Amino acid sequence: MANPFRAFLAHQLGFPSGWFGRLLLRVLNRNNAAINDLVLQSMQLQTGDRVLEIGFGGGYLIQRIVDTGMPALVAGVERSPEALAIARQRFRSQLSQGSIELSLSDAKALPFAEKNFNQLCTVNTLYFWSDPQHVLAECQRVLVSGGKLVIGYSSKEFLDQQKFSQHGFVAYEVTEVEAMLKIAGFIEIETFSGRSSRHQTFFCTSGTAH
Ligand SMILES: C[S@@+](CC[C@H](N)C(=O)[O-])C[C@H]1O[C@@H](n2cnc3c(N)ncnc32)[C@H](O)[C@@H]1O
Repeated sequence: MANPFRAFLAHQLGFPSGWFGRLLLRVLNRNNAAINDLVLQSMQLQTGDRVLEIGFGGGYLIQRIVDTGMPALVAGVERSPEALAIARQRFRSQLSQGSIELSLSDAKALPFAEKNFNQLCTVNTLYFWSDPQHVLAECQRVLVSGGKLVIGYSSKEFLDQQKFSQHGFVAYEVTEVEAMLKIAGFIEIETFSGRSSRHQTFFCTSGTAH
């Protein structure tokens, strides 16, 4: 039987809005910490890196990246005005210094010149991309040659259990994500897995831009 709250939650996860969206973004910062930490680890940041995050949500990973003290620039794009407003408040001092840049944009049209970043990360956003191959081509375009893309995502098994797939989520197997990166021209593709404290399995697939 259709569950109206599950449908509402699935929609909010893909596009947080209103008071519920603001609350959800705080919850995501806590609940998604483990997968975001694995993505950060997998990036292996270097001093002077130019980093882009797609779909930064409540800003947990941006904060963790900034806290490393490594990047020269951390940029973020979000399609949710609510998430952007919260991040603009949270990172107001770094925004005024120019070490963080945030914009309201969709992953399918990244507002950057080509070869602008050498690290690109995105966590729990893949399920909402209507044309993932197009987004991956955009990632390839804005990365320098040798730049790294890291994608964090929950297991298909978990997402199917949550029945989110019935409400617009597209869940992927690791082999499917790796194949999509390969088609987009990424090389040195590898995947790590992790588990949250709630025993939820997640993956982190990375590739190098050509
Ligand atoms: C489930 S939340 C995850 C947020 C955060 N990355 C995390 O791991 O907690 C997904 C976020 O990605 C954003 N998003 C989804 N599809 C997007 C797209 N095509 N372009 C930009 N942002 C997108 C949503 O607005 C939402 O804030």
